[in-house]
Formats: sequence, structure tokens, C-alpha cells
Amino acid sequence: MERTLAIIKPDAFAAGHAGHILARIYEEDFQVVGLKKLHLSEQQAAGFYHVHADKPFFDDLKGFMSSGPCIVMVLEAEAAIRRWRDLMGATNPTTAPAGTLRNQFGTSLGRNAVHGSDAPETALFEVGYFFSGMELL
Ligand code: TYD
Repeated sequence: MERTLAIIKPDAFAAGHAGHILARIYEEDFQVVGLKKLHLSEQQAAGFYHVHADKPFFDDLKGFMSSGPCIVMVLEAEAAIRRWRDLMGATNPTTAPAGTLRNQFGTSLGRNAVHGSDAPETALFEVGYFFSGMELL
């Protein structure tokens, strides 16, 4: 079993898509082992996305991720990292395949509805950024 960090981003949460996205998560047989609703500060968003600190889109990204509440989750399944990224689709919603969450709920490259860890080391950092061991059941 593998764990990955998933986020329903502020755009999808504000648009009322959280319930639909959670339903997809359960339908696809992920276990939700941790879940919380947070409104990140700019500093917290910047820390989460620190690997992108020198990118031209970083200011927009941290502003967006701190613009409203989001839902952070830890999902568990076999090959959870790859399977959750497959369910999300490509970073840019316009190239994400039909039926993926980003295709369905994303509205632009910077407003793409959901996040998922991209590798085991990243997942370890991202899960630990939001959850302590005793919060994962
Ligand atoms: P990235 O880690 O490359 O993508 P992913 O979320 O698919 O792992 O980028 C992180 C987020 O930054 C991405 O979800 C949306 C935003 N972003 C932009 O706003 N502009 C860009 O050119 C890129 C590459 C990403």
C-alpha cells in the first residue's frame, strides 16, 4: 500500500465540487486515511510549493492557494501516487483527458482544481507538511 497527498484546491472548493471529487475518490477505491479543511496563509502555501520558488508563476500560485479554503487529504491504495495522478489528468486542464478531474473541474493551467504528489519522496514531504502520524487512520 502507498500513500499520496491530495488537495481539492480553492477554485474547486469554492465552486462546490468537493463532494463530487470525494465521491470519485471513493468510487476509485482509495482509502481516505486523513482529511482536513484548511485556509492556507501565503507563507504556508509558499512552503508547500517551495520547489517552485524560483518559477515565474510562483507568486500567482501561492496567492491562489491561499485565496480560500481547500481540502487536504491523504489517500491510500496500491500505486496511489500514479493512480491519483491518472485520475487528476495533466497539469493543464485543456490537455487533461476527458473524464479526468482536471479536465472536468479545472479552468486554466493555474486553476486546475486538484493536486497530487508526483513521487514517493514528494509524498513523504507533503503528507508530513499537513498531517502528524496520529491523524492518519
Ligand atoms: P507542477 O508541479 O509542475 O504540476 P502538477 O501540479 O501537475 O504536479 O506545478 C504546480 C502547480 O503550479 C500546477 O498544478 C499549476 C501551477 N503552474 C502554473 O500556474 N503555471 C505553470 O506554467 C506550471 C508548470 C504550473
